[in-house]
Amino acid sequence: MNTIQYITAGESHGEALVAVVTGLPAGLAIAEGDIAADLARRQNPLGAGGRMAIEHDTAHILAGVMAGKTTGAPVALAIENRNHAAWKGREVAAITTPRPGHADFAASVKYGYDDARLALERASARETAARVAAGAVCRKFLAEFGISVEGRVLEIGGVEGEEAIADAIAKAKAEGETLGGIIEIVARGVPVGLGASVVAAERLDARLAGALMGMQAIKGVEIGDGFMLARRRGSEAQDEIARDAEGGVVRGTNRNGGIEGGVSNGEAIVARIAMKPIPTVLKGLGTVDFATGEAARTVYERSDFCPVPRAVVVAEAIECVVLADALKEKLGGDSIDEMKARFASLAKEPRYDAAAKVFWP
Ligand SMILES: Cc1cc2nc3c(=O)[nH]c(=O)nc-3n(C[C@H](O)[C@H](O)[C@H](O)COP(=O)(O)O)c2cc1C
Repeated sequence: MNTIQYITAGESHGEALVAVVTGLPAGLAIAEGDIAADLARRQNPLGAGGRMAIEHDTAHILAGVMAGKTTGAPVALAIENRNHAAWKGREVAAITTPRPGHADFAASVKYGYDDARLALERASARETAARVAAGAVCRKFLAEFGISVEGRVLEIGGVEGEEAIADAIAKAKAEGETLGGIIEIVARGVPVGLGASVVAAERLDARLAGALMGMQAIKGVEIGDGFMLARRRGSEAQDEIARDAEGGVVRGTNRNGGIEGGVSNGEAIVARIAMKPIPTVLKGLGTVDFATGEAARTVYERSDFCPVPRAVVVAEAIECVVLADALKEKLGGDSIDEMKARFASLAKEPRYDAAAKVFWP
């Protein structure tokens, strides 16, 4: 496969989580240590529940890397579930009280499960460890071209600032509640020209939004000033273009979040995502027991209270894969060296070519 994509497999308490990343060029140096830092960041204790204490994730590279470098073949990564041994063979009670807001109800109906555990084992965000591993490989690829992807929490439970957020999480925890929040992801060093303005499915904004929405518990995505733009007048919603002394393009603002017409424009790419409060609420929620048909309360399983801080690295990983794919599409090539040569031939910033009278990338 030529496109950079990934697929994961694995259940929350299964033997391992697996990610297979396709389309990476040959010659990218990658070691298990390159993935470790992002996996550790996913285990951010702020807002976590008891589960974090039992996860110590390490990704093993199973395939696609030889002598420390990618070969051009699919890269397979595995993260062992350390608690699997304790679960293996254990009698686990069926869950027949689906949690509103989780996959429990809809997936059980869809796949014909009589035990919602089959739904939640896969829909659990434990799966995001595999995504983070896949994203870390793509992050390494992007770094070869000077592209970085960094996220941060903007707000949690409607409040901003470290102290207010820590207080809000502590209060929610004490009240048996959960909290959502807003995360911002910024990609820097992205050259002009990733994505497409001519085919809807190839638009960079569409690809980013689709991928970020594919993350568990995400209910909204905006690029640049997003929903705020709808409230502004036209002249206050664009990013005016000017030239600097060297003929480079300068913009005083980045309201469009680095993407115009579905194509990266050389500015930082800014995406924000809204994460809902997670559905495993300590105080329980009303549901219907599908074993009896009677009204019931949900049963609490050990869970996070507010995984928004941990979700930052997951969103970064997802964005790394999309940008890596769009970069490869732009550059072509089967090895890092081929791609680098092509990248070097593209000026990172468009310049005005006075003789040709065009902006020249
Ligand atoms: C990093 C992360 C951690 C999560 N942790 C939990 C959790 O501990 N308990 C829970 O019920 N849901 C958790 N979720 C959300 C669930 O995975 C669930 O899929 C999601 O709430 C379903 O919402 P959706 O309909 O938007 O996908 C987490 C999501 C993310 C991204």
